Amino acid sequence: MFQLIDGVKIVFTPLSIKNLQDRVLLNSGTQKANNLINDEFIYYNNEALIPQESWRKATELEEKILFSNQFAQEAEFWVSIIQLPQEIKNHLKMLKDVKEPRKLQFVLEDKNVINGIKLTQDFINTFCNPELSSQYGIGWNAPNQITVTTGKDNYKVGLHIDNHLEFPRHRILINLGSECRYFLFINLSITQIYDLVSKYHNIANKDNLGRTGLAIMFMELFPNYPVIKLRVNPGEAYIANTEHIIHDGSTKGTHHLDIFFTMRSIFNFKIDKF
Ligand SMILES: [Fe+2]
Repeated sequence: MFQLIDGVKIVFTPLSIKNLQDRVLLNSGTQKANNLINDEFIYYNNEALIPQESWRKATELEEKILFSNQFAQEAEFWVSIIQLPQEIKNHLKMLKDVKEPRKLQFVLEDKNVINGIKLTQDFINTFCNPELSSQYGIGWNAPNQITVTTGKDNYKVGLHIDNHLEFPRHRILINLGSECRYFLFINLSITQIYDLVSKYHNIANKDNLGRTGLAIMFMELFPNYPVIKLRVNPGEAYIANTEHIIHDGSTKGTHHLDIFFTMRSIFNFKIDKF
């Protein structure tokens, strides 16, 4: 199966960047990480899967399947990229110069940066329900990583679905580094994945299998199903329901530390707010 199925949409919200189409690349599927990565410093779980490096632009038909002009809150399976206001970016620009992880804490204690983080939270609160928001986190990833997420054992997990915590929320992740980073995902909801996998396997209970277990079954059954790579420039954020879609971040091709702000919430872009 190498044709996109109609599923999770990339949506334009009132805060979205223009020309979202220019940010999208597709590939020809997934592959076993351990067949490829043989690096002294990068270890993947045995079963981990990563995207193939065969990136190309979307066709017209694929764009029709992937993009939606209408932001519908009830359709909770969507992905978007939004822009941080310039004033906030100015406050946070010191973070772009962090070259080593141990310097990050030092910069986070700068008055201007503290102010910038506060303004970031205020900005996010204009399009989310603050009562349903998680704590924010600021972190880093090494440059030039095909996928960035590691498990408890420090082994990379590859493309995965986040654990379902309390209730389903979207994740926002702001790129505060100096280079582009990427959001990798498969445009199918966990329900679509479950339906496709259960045609071939007898899965009595998807919760016993684990979300990532189901994701791996899907990618092993359909290794040619395209992965989508969304470019997130410095000062931009992606929003995605990472508890319901197969995904990971990527810093492939970069040279400097990836610095990010992230939190989870229920986002709602009501036009009349803007
Ligand atoms: Fe994740």
